[in-house]
Amino acid sequence: MSLPRVLVTSNATPTPGIDLLQAKCNVTIIPAIVSTREQVLQALPGHDAVFLASHHVVNNEFLDIAGPNLKVVSTMSAGYDHLDVPEIKKRGIKVGHTPMVLSAAVAEMAVLLMLSAARRVHEGRTKLDQGETRSGPQWLLGQDLRGSTVGIFGLGNIGQAVVKRLTGFEVGRFIYTGHSRKKAGDELGATFVSLDELLQQSDFLVISAPLTNETKGFFNDSVFDKMKKTSIFVNISRGQIVNTDSLVRALRDKIFAAGLDVTDPEPLPPDHELLKLPNAVIVPHLGSATIKTRNDMSTIAAQNILNGLEGKPLIYPL
Ligand code: DGY
Repeated sequence: MSLPRVLVTSNATPTPGIDLLQAKCNVTIIPAIVSTREQVLQALPGHDAVFLASHHVVNNEFLDIAGPNLKVVSTMSAGYDHLDVPEIKKRGIKVGHTPMVLSAAVAEMAVLLMLSAARRVHEGRTKLDQGETRSGPQWLLGQDLRGSTVGIFGLGNIGQAVVKRLTGFEVGRFIYTGHSRKKAGDELGATFVSLDELLQQSDFLVISAPLTNETKGFFNDSVFDKMKKTSIFVNISRGQIVNTDSLVRALRDKIFAAGLDVTDPEPLPPDHELLKLPNAVIVPHLGSATIKTRNDMSTIAAQNILNGLEGKPLIYPL
């Protein structure tokens, strides 16, 4: 019997997942680190499974081109806003992702961004680059995490991991909002509040909710208007949750600073307004980018595919 055919969309996919697939499947790897949609669509027909190593959109067009052989799709990411999950499932195709294994790495990035933005790390470095040597007791003063109110917008796995990592920082209070109060929130000592309370009370506001129709463009002028002048806005989820023009305006005259692992657009063009702001610490979507985490994500995505092909439940189905 011929082996199932699996398409992998990047030749930079970490080897643990590739090794698992190659033991049982006929694997085609697109010869590009970041493949274009055209490359993927061209290679797609006839494959039994697709391993998405980057955020290729899986929609009707993709599924039509893949054809009737397609049985499993796994994205090597926790976020799945690039997948039309209802349509994929309607066609009887199994679909999975790789949550949990990246929560710690992404939460570490959130802590890094909170501290870097609060302590004006980027601005300080820029001043050094510009040869500015002035200092003194009032120079580049930042905000304390100690005693602060940390607000979490979306207390899922990553939001919870952020709270856990902050327990040694003597944070004054953790608050969160979302659809409902969560047992995990009670266990972490975090208080469920309304959205307005979250915006008005947070000294640090961490965005860890997924991108959905409900959250898309959610952080706009009127939302930033409700935040404290001294607040620090951190986004480790998806750039499109935020209206970028509103964020630029907020950073100019409404809030203290932002720490961003994600932006809209992504990547930011080098001349983008956000990159000119001294109070924006910006990282090019590196939340899960550690060797161990990416190896684990690769393994889980491959295992999702193997399970799906063998008729077993995926490790993390959608
Ligand atoms: C995820 O897994 O969703 C991260 O943002 C990396 O894509």
